[in-house]
Amino acid sequence: MPRRKAEDLRSHRWFGATDLRSFGHRSRMMQMGYAPADWAGKPVIGILNTWSDLNQCHQHFRTRAEEVKRGVWEAGGLPLEIPALAVSEQYMKPTSMLYRNLLAMEVEEIARSQPFDALVLMGGCDKTTPGLIMGALAVDLPSIFLPAGPMLRGYWAGHTLGSGSDAWKYWDELRAGTITEDDWKGVETGIARSWGTCMTMGTASTMMSAVETLGLALPGSSSIPAPDANHARMATAVGRRIVELAWNDERPSRLLTAGSFDNAATVSLALGGSTNAVVHLIAMARRAGIPLDLDRFDALSRTTPLLANIRPSGTYLMEDFYYAGGLRALMARLSDLLDLSQRTVGGATLGEAVAGAKVFNDEVILPRNNPLKPDAGLAVLRGNLAPDGAVIKASAADPKLLCHTGPAVVFRDYNDMAKRIDDPDLPVSADSVLVLQNAGPVGGPGMPEWGMLPLPKKLLRQGVRDVVRISDARMSGTSYGTCVLHVAPESAVGGPLALVEDGDAVTLDVPGRRLSLDVPEAELARRRAAWTAPPAHYVRGFGLLHTREVRQANEGCDYAILEGAADLRMRTPEPEIH
Ligand code: FES
Repeated sequence: MPRRKAEDLRSHRWFGATDLRSFGHRSRMMQMGYAPADWAGKPVIGILNTWSDLNQCHQHFRTRAEEVKRGVWEAGGLPLEIPALAVSEQYMKPTSMLYRNLLAMEVEEIARSQPFDALVLMGGCDKTTPGLIMGALAVDLPSIFLPAGPMLRGYWAGHTLGSGSDAWKYWDELRAGTITEDDWKGVETGIARSWGTCMTMGTASTMMSAVETLGLALPGSSSIPAPDANHARMATAVGRRIVELAWNDERPSRLLTAGSFDNAATVSLALGGSTNAVVHLIAMARRAGIPLDLDRFDALSRTTPLLANIRPSGTYLMEDFYYAGGLRALMARLSDLLDLSQRTVGGATLGEAVAGAKVFNDEVILPRNNPLKPDAGLAVLRGNLAPDGAVIKASAADPKLLCHTGPAVVFRDYNDMAKRIDDPDLPVSADSVLVLQNAGPVGGPGMPEWGMLPLPKKLLRQGVRDVVRISDARMSGTSYGTCVLHVAPESAVGGPLALVEDGDAVTLDVPGRRLSLDVPEAELARRRAAWTAPPAHYVRGFGLLHTREVRQANEGCDYAILEGAADLRMRTPEPEIH
């Protein structure tokens, strides 16, 4: 790619012109202590930092931003750090997913309105990754994603703990009476003991890996544990490299193809990644103007072996994955299933990026002839209960339940479920199918991670540890169980899930890719005619925008007004600013 001249940079209009406006820009840079030598003839790099005191996974980002800046200065750019919505998986209610698209909008407007030639996107905690990438794809400026990296392994009383997964597990044991309150406090103290993202193969690890596979992060960067000194050096390397991308105008649209998204989906599946990746990758692909749908995931899942032995599907954690060789090593083992000609922000093709990568522990990254599962186990289900599709992570389910018919126990919303789930009189057995309504993109709102419905206490005490659960919600990547998710269309907009009543026979047939409500059509028509929408959650503000604009899960839950390919207007050299 030919190197651009300084006058061709977008920032030149702010700093290089000789008019009154650029006088204002330069004088105000000097107000902040910068000298002309700091900006003249240099690309301006926006470092979008999703740090906050309430994003537990990004606590190292203040330091990492400085390390990125060091790299930008070294390479002859001007680094300018900008805060972006620090969507926190733990603290934002009702769900962080409600704010993914708000972060994407913010990235788009930050980049559009200010003098940036290229972006470093600092994220990792669940929705920050897709939010940052969706925004960057919309504006199509040269961009590198800087993954926060996973936290260290959790530890309690001789046990290795995985965030999320072991919280659910020990919570069930506490409710079943098999561990004490003191034990539970010990788990609380040890389950998250460093900065960094969840270290199971949850949404964070899945999406950071997927973005590296897409080619939008430096090769090898997504697997480095957050506290490792290699992570700091990687941040500086990102700073150096983004300056090159700015000079060469290496935009995402010049890197991404349908092959990149197939690669990202394939790697997510081989990792046993979160079902959330399906929603996020579809949304990202649509932003890039590249077709990707549920059926593509089902097809890729059938031919992709599950090679990463990481919780919740397997045994180990992300720290082990890094020591075993990390994502590059896993991709090397999958190379015949990947399009290795895809280019990456590192400058090499994916094939060059993974060449020579070795696996150092075959227990963690399994050989092709001994996979954890011969196929990745993500299935897309359809039927009269999910005409537009639903997904199940079969690799995290009890195999005995993958073909199952049972009577429905219906909860009309989350509060109803929370109130009745442990009622000793709840008519529930190990054969029951738990159904949660009104937990989708509109109904939740924001499609919260409520899809792993808790097991009723009375079943836990009988030793039951899994039952079939169906909802229009999502599920944390750290969750597990026979959970049918993302049912579309959702119940809050009148999807068939809204019509299920207690005692109805529901059939789950994962090998046949079927999800059906065994109720005569005439009876369903009667129920449909009597159905009324639940009360609206919002009458104003962002929530109302969300309710009006959000698409269903099978379309990625983006907003109709935000979809589409890059907005080229932002590169016109006449920004209306003062
Ligand atoms: Fe941040 Fe899990 S809470 S990645």
